[in-house]
Amino acid sequence: GKGLFTYDPGFVSTAACESQITYIDGDKGILLHRGYPIDQLAEKSDYLEVCYLLLNGELPDAEQKKAFVNTISNHTMVHEQLISFYKGFRRDAHPMAIMCGVVGALSAFYHDSLDINNAHHREVCAYRLIAKMPTLAAMCYKYSIGQPFMFPRNDRGYAENFLRMMFSTPCSDYEVSPVLVRAMDRIFTLHADHEQNASTSTVRLAGSSGANPFACIAAGIAALWGPAHGGANEAVLTMLEEIGDESNIPEFIQRAKDPNDPFRLMGFGHRVYRNFDPRSRVMKKTCDEVLAELGISDPLLKIASRLEEIALEDPYFVERKLYPNVDFYSGIILKAMGIPTSMFTVIFAMSRTIGWISHWNEFHSSPNRIGRPRQLYTGAKKRDYPG
Ligand code: SDX
Repeated sequence: GKGLFTYDPGFVSTAACESQITYIDGDKGILLHRGYPIDQLAEKSDYLEVCYLLLNGELPDAEQKKAFVNTISNHTMVHEQLISFYKGFRRDAHPMAIMCGVVGALSAFYHDSLDINNAHHREVCAYRLIAKMPTLAAMCYKYSIGQPFMFPRNDRGYAENFLRMMFSTPCSDYEVSPVLVRAMDRIFTLHADHEQNASTSTVRLAGSSGANPFACIAAGIAALWGPAHGGANEAVLTMLEEIGDESNIPEFIQRAKDPNDPFRLMGFGHRVYRNFDPRSRVMKKTCDEVLAELGISDPLLKIASRLEEIALEDPYFVERKLYPNVDFYSGIILKAMGIPTSMFTVIFAMSRTIGWISHWNEFHSSPNRIGRPRQLYTGAKKRDYPG
């Protein structure tokens, strides 16, 4: 029938589920994970603790945390056979393309014995994913530059281990500074979850059919890839490089305002935040710290700061309440660490994996049914096949 459904393209006003994981107040710029403000978590906690919190609902005590960190360490290696999947890709394949493939392929390794209705099985899926994502991500990079894959080191922290798998070689040990390790960990924390964003909604929807969780995460990676979502961090860097000089900013601002030009200011705007993105403030502060530590003065940072200033005074952006989002400054930090632009969205995917799997787990822990949106049909009326 007609008019039976709420028409809400883009899901601007439709709640698809109940959730106890993350709260956002877009007008006030508030983001809470299980009740805890994101800026406090970024400052005082660390990524693995936030993973535990998102998954279990409470912060771990010292003993629980130690056990959790230990469990994650035990799952960091990937099956040697996965190497064949990497080798099947062209060397210049985009790392997000490789990630869609290899994470999807994990489903083949963990399928027959997996019972998604068993809470312990679901938990182990989460551990495996949290633990293996940095290994898989670093392997993408190593493959692209033709260096041997580095094994994870289970005596190192989560962020440090990732940086070492990226930058160590069998002949040289990469010693990372504590400031960079902390910054990396903070980037993971700031991206850990964001309630029903496009990729998380994708994971929940894919999961609603009872599909293999590793395959569901691959679906999330696909949804994250686009420049309107997680691909924005890569797009910001490309944009800043394209702007090239402060004197060119007005031209790009003009283009962003032109409804006939598809160009948009990357790293600006948000569906839910209409005041500021609390993550972007922490990110900017971290960016300043990292550049100071490394003694870098990146001209792109100057362009970014100036762009922000100009946009925040422009009536177009003010009226539409467009502010820098989480991805506006993250790329400058990652670039300063030596991480290539094509890996930025992979790092978002790694960080968001805990959010995805926590939502998948929440879905399966509560009464649920398959997700099945309806439509308003606007196509041809019934007609007869010619002849
Ligand atoms: C993430 O949802 C999440 O929570 C996502 C995320 C997470 O943690 O999971 O926070 C991560 O995806 C961050 C967003 C990254 N994307 C970008 O930075 C890309 C640039 N931003 C936009 O494309 C856009 O702002 C979105 C996708 C973020 C939001 O899209 P909406 O909510 O559909 O906003 P809209 O298109 O309805 O915008 C309203 C108006 C429009 O103008 P009018 O038609 O009313 O005249 O603002 C304009 C838009 O054209 N606008 C922009 C703009 N963003 C919106 N104009 C210029 N530059 C921009 N960036």
